[in-house]
Amino acid sequence: MKVTVEQGAIQASTADALVVNLFEGVTAPGGATGAVDRALDGAISELIAGGDISGKEGEVAVLYPRGAIPARRVIVVGLGDRQKFDIEQVRRAAAHAVKKARDLKATTVATIIHGAGIGNLVPAEAAQATVEGSLLALYHYDVPGVDQEPPAEIDRLTIVEFDEAKLEAIRQGLRVAEALVAGVSLARTLVNEPPNVATPTRMAEAARALAAETGLEITVGGREWAAERDMGAFLAVAKGAGEPPKFIVLEHNGEREDLDTVVLVGKGITFDTGGISIKPTKGMGDMKADMAGAAAVLGAMKAVGLLDLPLRVVGIAPTTENMPDGLAYRPADVITASNGKTIEIISTDAEGRMVLADGLVYAGRYNPDAVIDLATLTGAAIVALGEGVAAALFTTDDSLRDRLVAAGEATYERLWPMPLWDNYQKSIKSEVADIKNSGGRMGGVSTSAKFLHNFTDYNWAHLDIAGMAVNKKGSEYSPAGATGFGVRLLVELLRHWQ
Ligand code: BES
Ligand code: MN
Ligand code: ZN
Repeated sequence: MKVTVEQGAIQASTADALVVNLFEGVTAPGGATGAVDRALDGAISELIAGGDISGKEGEVAVLYPRGAIPARRVIVVGLGDRQKFDIEQVRRAAAHAVKKARDLKATTVATIIHGAGIGNLVPAEAAQATVEGSLLALYHYDVPGVDQEPPAEIDRLTIVEFDEAKLEAIRQGLRVAEALVAGVSLARTLVNEPPNVATPTRMAEAARALAAETGLEITVGGREWAAERDMGAFLAVAKGAGEPPKFIVLEHNGEREDLDTVVLVGKGITFDTGGISIKPTKGMGDMKADMAGAAAVLGAMKAVGLLDLPLRVVGIAPTTENMPDGLAYRPADVITASNGKTIEIISTDAEGRMVLADGLVYAGRYNPDAVIDLATLTGAAIVALGEGVAAALFTTDDSLRDRLVAAGEATYERLWPMPLWDNYQKSIKSEVADIKNSGGRMGGVSTSAKFLHNFTDYNWAHLDIAGMAVNKKGSEYSPAGATGFGVRLLVELLRHWQ
């Protein structure tokens, strides 16, 4: 779908469908909605007065102008309570409206920017959110080789703005939104793909493709490359894997040591059987999403490259399957990670922290100002915060915590801070090694974070995204399946880094 910006009056648009909006409780609409209402001889006011529409969140009404204006349909979308209005309401309203237009088979849609009028939002941000909500809602995963009825497609979305002074800001917002959506869509597709397709090799190919497209530097290391760098923890998990493991490194402004440096590290287990500590059959298929952290890092790097952010940003994705096999690592093995620390294996199902250990050590070579890792690390994170509510945040840096939480609120990819207290280190103390890879059931989300802490010596944040990577039912602008969680959050943080 092509998105363009036009100066003009929305009621003059010739699109198949116009989108205007309404706050709850408004009886005489103003702004663009008011202009369309007047052109329709008060049809919108009449529906409000009759109680047919009220402007509540999620409400979409369709009016047929029948020649009163050039457009064939007018969609009025509810913005909800004005007191609770924020940028997330813009994304949701845009999503509701474009999904309605798509279902009505409109091929051209013209919309105003939600929230820039009496909503009082900054035009660039409101424009970004309007486009983000629209494009993310229309994301569709094409199952390869399966004949599905493809959803109807909107060819063109035109943002119509009357005030010329706002156009430049709106174009900026559009550009940011398109980069974000490209990143989120990549992450969603990699997670949606079956685990025999989204293998480490395919992850590396996707990383190569995005590097070629955006001009990022890329390195992909295999078993030998990792062995040369003593990545014993990553290689232990990969030992039982039939698919060759890939340690993926993407660099944006890689040579620019003068710039602030942020390293992103993503857990890339393309399928987690649990290994020798094998998982039960029920729900095992969900573990195809265990590379969602790596997918988010690839997606974020794509957006960073497209936006050419003035930072040095490095994306690291250790990717491998976790399989039971004659060569697989076992409980009681003692493994040496690339920083020389030894790890007693309690459970081969605690594999994410193993691959991240070497990923985090590798991040240190960039002398980073901050390192942020994302991982579908523990079921305990879901037990603690719920499914689809928030990711657990652990960090050694209070300023980074505040900025991450703020980015989470702004993007609605929410985070909740959890402690990294020394108590948790006792739970992972080993008799035969420096540390063990599981602290048992109690405090599982914190002991896993504390484990990772042992492989960092810089400002660091860990995001346990186990409950956030997949949305079984779908939500306003995230169709059922992978969410792409983390891409918008990270890019929001990086765009406002200074
Ligand atoms: N990938 C899982 C965590 C997970 C569970 C993600 C459910 C998403 C949904 C991880 O590798 C794992 O198996 N964690 C174990 C850790 C335990 C063995 C210490 C867990 O959470 O039970
Ligand atoms: Mn596991
Ligand atoms: Zn896992």
